[in-house]
Amino acid sequence: MGILDLIIAVTPPSGVAIDGADSKNMALIKKTGKVKLLEEEIASRSVDLDMDGTIDIHCGIAHTRWATHGVPSEINSHPQRSDTENGFMVVHNGIVTNYKEVKTFLQNKGYFFESDTDTEIIAKLIYHFHKLHPTYSFRELVEQVVQQIIIPVFLSYYTLPYSEHRPHGRSEVPVLPRSESTADIQPLEDNEVEYFFASDASAVIEHTNRVIYFEDDDVAAVQNGALSIHRLRRSLDDPHAREITTLKMELQQIMKGNYSHFMQKEIFEQPESVVNTMRGRVNFENHTVTLGGIKDYVSEIKRCRRLMLIGCGTSYHSAIATRQLLEELTELPVMVELASDFLDRTTPVFRDDVCFFISQSGETADTLMALRYCKQRGALIVGITNTVGSSICRESHCGVHINAGPEIGVASTKAYTSQFISLVMFALVMSEDRMSLANRRREIIEGLRKIDDQIKEVLKLDPKVEELAKDLYQQKSLLIMGRGFNFATCLEGALKVKELTYMHSEGIMAGELKHGPLALIDDQMPIMMIVMRDPVYIKCMNALQQVRSRDGRPIIICEEGDNETAKLACKSLQVPHTVDALQGILTVIPMQLLSYHIAMLRGCNVDCPRNLAKSVTVE
Ligand code: UD1
Ligand code: MG
Repeated sequence: MGILDLIIAVTPPSGVAIDGADSKNMALIKKTGKVKLLEEEIASRSVDLDMDGTIDIHCGIAHTRWATHGVPSEINSHPQRSDTENGFMVVHNGIVTNYKEVKTFLQNKGYFFESDTDTEIIAKLIYHFHKLHPTYSFRELVEQVVQQIIIPVFLSYYTLPYSEHRPHGRSEVPVLPRSESTADIQPLEDNEVEYFFASDASAVIEHTNRVIYFEDDDVAAVQNGALSIHRLRRSLDDPHAREITTLKMELQQIMKGNYSHFMQKEIFEQPESVVNTMRGRVNFENHTVTLGGIKDYVSEIKRCRRLMLIGCGTSYHSAIATRQLLEELTELPVMVELASDFLDRTTPVFRDDVCFFISQSGETADTLMALRYCKQRGALIVGITNTVGSSICRESHCGVHINAGPEIGVASTKAYTSQFISLVMFALVMSEDRMSLANRRREIIEGLRKIDDQIKEVLKLDPKVEELAKDLYQQKSLLIMGRGFNFATCLEGALKVKELTYMHSEGIMAGELKHGPLALIDDQMPIMMIVMRDPVYIKCMNALQQVRSRDGRPIIICEEGDNETAKLACKSLQVPHTVDALQGILTVIPMQLLSYHIAMLRGCNVDCPRNLAKSVTVE
């Protein structure tokens, strides 16, 4: 029995429908929280589910939910069912675009809906067709349903470069002929075959490396030990025969797609992840921003005495990066705090404070403790998290999911840029009715509109950054200097270098140079400087001159086309220009790439994933 093993992510909540001793009814078990709870529940019911008894083959479907419709709760998690007798059970990845229309149709027919999910309409609709056409087979019913619902087709992020297509001879499992509309695979005599259906090969790789990829409109069924694949719409130019693909890769490799490491994949995913963060929130046509998770609290937040942004590590840096814009657009005092230090100081917190807790996993212990500390003192608690259902998400009054998608690499990359954008969106929401800020808001929203394409441009620097890494990887230290909107990039860049390469690195506020750090500068010390054409440009140039007059040999990150600044560099990287407040999104990416390449050259393991097969959240 390996149903639970199908669940590879611990994204809560989760559910399973499973056949039991009473073969007429499926048991439906759901849990919010860790998948382990579901496992324990099934174990505790092993007698009534007949797990070790008379039935030796069990069948079930399971799902973990990254919420798309409705809040994460047991009722909204899958499987969704057709009726209280559990007649039909459905799990589903994706979105049913026309679910509202179908739901209204079914409600008019008297169907009662128990969840807020789009998926539930599938279960109800198949039940409805079953009552209309009692003689239809299950496959025919499924085909009726899928022709009524609209499902956008997303391309899976990986192709199959690591797999080996190996058509088997007749004596083995056959290549499925495409001339017929239905093809059957019969297992070899005396050979019992177990079938697993999954939305991703990574979910089944623990059990088998032999996989058949379905195509759009395929309807597959297993009955009496045989698999059949039926074509809903037959077309003459079907590309190729269906083959059994033998996956030559490990689980981690599948999930990594074409990339060598999760971190690398996540860096290169940023053009998409930033769009996902803004999806449904930033309206580029009428220049408005809506954050569904905090809209009911905005008026209360506007009346607060100050904003406090609290986090650790990279999350803390995202607060540093956006603090200036928050001050500008909210005109409120903004404190940025490291969770541990904040607690050490027993910082005064009041009822009219609004406290933000920023954490990718939503489980960061120090941040969570700081949250409880502030909540106890009556402050309004806002979470900025990537993980639906996490502790910070549950314990906050409201918040914003950054929607960057699972981040597996231990060093945070795409979560940083998504946290950054989430806080920028918050600043925009806070200033929506300020006429004096209308132009500034518009300029920033226009900047956000182009940011994904500009990230793509920055990612093209990768080969150049790799060359830089070759110059730097044998060094003992790397100083990264900047100020203003790009100071956070210095801190975050230095953190990436430290955690991935074990090399010393320090982010230095360029305004502090003459108060100490200047003593470090000579022609040997590796230095990077970020010099953008923003309000602190003159001050940065001043710092650059000081470094050069001590024989420093800085590598400069500057704006595309700014050859005047680039001329003063020993080497330079040029990134596209955007609004000053967003520039940090573009300057941090070369630092992510640089730390990655230095780590590679130093032979460090950049991902070091723990228990990856079972878990995608890093605890
Ligand atoms: C929500 C849905 C999203 C759907 C959209 C449609 C969820 C998780 N999100 O997104 O799938 O497409 O409506 O309008 O179902 N929250 C916290 N603490 C946090 C983060 C969030 O309490 O740290 C709360 C929010 O206050 C809100 C809920 O969680 O009540 C969902 O937040 P979020 O996903 O950001 O809301 P939407 O963007 O509206
Ligand atoms: Mg909450």
